[in-house]
Amino acid sequence: MAINLWSLAWIWLALQHTPSAAAGGRREQTWPVPYRRFDHRPKPDPFCQPMYPFCPTGSPDGEIPQMKDQDIIEVYRLQTPVWEFKYGDLLGHFHIMHDAIGFRNMLTGKNYTMEWYELFQLGNCTFPHLRPGIEAPFWCNQGAACFYDGIDDLHWKENGSLVKVSEITGDIFNKLAQWVKEDNRTGIYYETWTVQTDPSPNATVWFKSYDCSAFVLRTYQTLFELGAVFKSPIQTNYTRIFLYSGEPTYLGNDTTIFGLQCNKTLGKEITSFYFPFRPPQSVKELILSLLEIVNKVVLEKTFYLYFNFEYWYLPIKKPYVKITYEEIPLPSKSTGA
Ligand SMILES: *[C@@H]1O[C@H](CO)[C@@H](O)[C@H](O)[C@H]1NC(C)=O
Ligand SMILES: *[C@@H]1O[C@H](CO)[C@@H](O)[C@H](O)[C@H]1NC(C)=O
Ligand SMILES: *[C@@H]1O[C@H](CO)[C@@H](O)[C@H](O)[C@H]1NC(C)=O
Ligand SMILES: *[C@@H]1O[C@H](CO)[C@@H](O)[C@H](O)[C@H]1NC(C)=O
Ligand SMILES: *[C@@H]1O[C@H](CO)[C@@H](O)[C@H](O)[C@H]1NC(C)=O
Ligand SMILES: *[C@@H]1O[C@H](CO)[C@@H](O)[C@H](O)[C@H]1NC(C)=O
Ligand SMILES: *[C@@H]1O[C@H](CO)[C@@H](O)[C@H](O)[C@H]1NC(C)=O
Ligand SMILES: *[C@@H]1O[C@H](CO)[C@@H](O)[C@H](O)[C@H]1NC(C)=O
Repeated sequence: MAINLWSLAWIWLALQHTPSAAAGGRREQTWPVPYRRFDHRPKPDPFCQPMYPFCPTGSPDGEIPQMKDQDIIEVYRLQTPVWEFKYGDLLGHFHIMHDAIGFRNMLTGKNYTMEWYELFQLGNCTFPHLRPGIEAPFWCNQGAACFYDGIDDLHWKENGSLVKVSEITGDIFNKLAQWVKEDNRTGIYYETWTVQTDPSPNATVWFKSYDCSAFVLRTYQTLFELGAVFKSPIQTNYTRIFLYSGEPTYLGNDTTIFGLQCNKTLGKEITSFYFPFRPPQSVKELILSLLEIVNKVVLEKTFYLYFNFEYWYLPIKKPYVKITYEEIPLPSKSTGA
């Protein structure tokens, strides 16, 4: 009896504090929408075939060598223009940069590179395949961490940067390695776009990108929480690709939009939105597709975003799309990070 009264009191209290839920109102949405974590990484569909193999020089199971607790490890910020190996620093001029982290064990002299990138290249993470006989757009959008021996100094330094940002102990490095494993197991897909209301610093952010630079920023933050001290001042700028939009509307997933029982209208709108943008096979095609999508977005003020394997409608507004290369400082006590 007493227990029942208590339960009723708790329910009553709970209702007082969630008036919208009590009134049957719409579920309160958290912004930015949290990136979904999975309990394991599924094997990619055999349809998805990389043009370049993922992580060719890493160990197959992503093994990261154990350091001795007292070892001193230097940490490097690495950055280079995207596709530099084929196009020189052309994309460097647009500041479309790829980020990574380097480590050097000062006692053994051995060094290592760690980066996070697309399994099937950027075009496949930005645009889906429309496959005959399959109604829902098909995405090859996995991304993952790659750890391998060596730092190719020239590759990073010549048109990008290779700068020492910290020194950590082997103990911190080993803990970081544990974190990377877990992050890599649970964070499985790449997201190109950052979506927010406008370009101002106080804009409401609807969705955050999940790409190479987001990985580097998470890694720095984890190192900081493990006790690493970052050198300052070092200016650290990152590339982000923005869409500007009013409040997004949740649409559903493959089952609820493209399933047998569904009203096909919405599904058709989504596939026709993506129709002109099948995953590009070359960098030139990718740039053309990006320019095309910008045109379409400006004209129709509509974007169907795929995030957490679900679709959202974005009412796009000025200035529509932007690629920025802005500073996000290294974590420090004063930033309260
Ligand atoms: C994108 O995926 C398709 C299908 O798996 C593949 O043929 C193509 O090589 C990928 N694109 C790139 C640029 O790797
Ligand atoms: C991350 O996952 C990918 C895909 O399964 C794997 O190839 C890679 O070795 C893993 N990386 C690390 C550092 O565990
Ligand atoms: C840096 O850019 C120059 C000029 O575009 C290019 O010739 C050179 O190959 C690039 N360096 C590297 C390491 O790719
Ligand atoms: C990493 O090791 C290679 C091979 O020993 C060396 O050429 C390179 O300069 C090293 N780079 C850094 C940043 O330690
Ligand atoms: C940011 O927010 C502050 C306080 O809410 C406001 O005074 C300021 O005008 C805003 N700045 C921009 C660029 O919107
Ligand atoms: C799609 O959403 C429905 C309703 O929220 C859910 O029951 C279903 O499991 C989801 N399907 C997939 C493939 O995630
Ligand atoms: C399907 O949905 C559209 C818009 O969401 C609506 O206009 C249309 O009436 C619906 N059709 C059916 C058969 O329910
Ligand atoms: C780096 O970011 C800062 C602040 O966001 C900006 O003022 C600066 O121009 C950027 N540097 C480059 C090379 O774009």
